[in-house]
Amino acid sequence: MKTKLTAILLLFALTLASAGCGSAPAQVTSTPAPTPAQAAAPAPAQTPEAAPTQAAIEKASAEPAQENKSMVVVFSCTGTTKGVAEKIAALAGAELVDLVPAQPYTAEDLNYNDRSTRATVEQNTPDARPGIAGDISLDGVTTLYLGYPIWWGQAPRIMSTFVESHDFTGITVVPFCTSGGSGAGRTGETLGEQAGTGTFLGATRFSSGVSDNELQSWIDSHK
Ligand SMILES: Cc1cc2nc3c(=O)[nH]c(=O)nc-3n(C[C@H](O)[C@H](O)[C@H](O)COP(=O)(O)O)c2cc1C
Repeated sequence: MKTKLTAILLLFALTLASAGCGSAPAQVTSTPAPTPAQAAAPAPAQTPEAAPTQAAIEKASAEPAQENKSMVVVFSCTGTTKGVAEKIAALAGAELVDLVPAQPYTAEDLNYNDRSTRATVEQNTPDARPGIAGDISLDGVTTLYLGYPIWWGQAPRIMSTFVESHDFTGITVVPFCTSGGSGAGRTGETLGEQAGTGTFLGATRFSSGVSDNELQSWIDSHK
């Protein structure tokens, strides 16, 4: 009888214990109350699709802020002005952009010994506006170094195409050029008149072998 009573008591105790453990898993599966840190975190509306991808984050952080941006835009057919432009871009920490003609200039187009060739005919036609390939965005640019060769004492007509098709409001344009020996003349001022917007400075003529020191002084004088 004592054994039977003990067995009944043991069974009763085990039933109680089992009921107590059963309530614990219910708490585990319910949503835990947020910790203070979790409560302060953004709402979990950011699904993986809505959240910016790692690539987007890296791209955004790699791009410089769109403020006080310097850019060098250069038109160069035989590489002389481009060489100077590359140095300016490196020294000024500026983006370098080629102004590419829609129709490239061939060596024959540039033969100034023959007055019937393309470049010379264009320079003798004040209204000529050779096309530009692609689009050059000046978004965020505040200083624009604008480079070109001297053709018959003037800026190539394609430079007029460029300045007439862009808005330079808020931009200081610093023109520079190379040549076989001629000076820059009033090319910077003329481009500024054609642009009608922005602040165009007088152009500076550089030789192909211009030193970094000379270019740095020139860059610093326009800051
Ligand atoms: C059609 C044409 C006209 C030129 N006219 C002049 C000129 O009037 N004075 C001068 O010193 N050089 C003149 N040049 C020489 C270029 O200005 C010089 O070679 C320049 O550095 C070329 O620059 P790039 O290599 O960037 O195209 C002329 C060149 C060409 C093709």
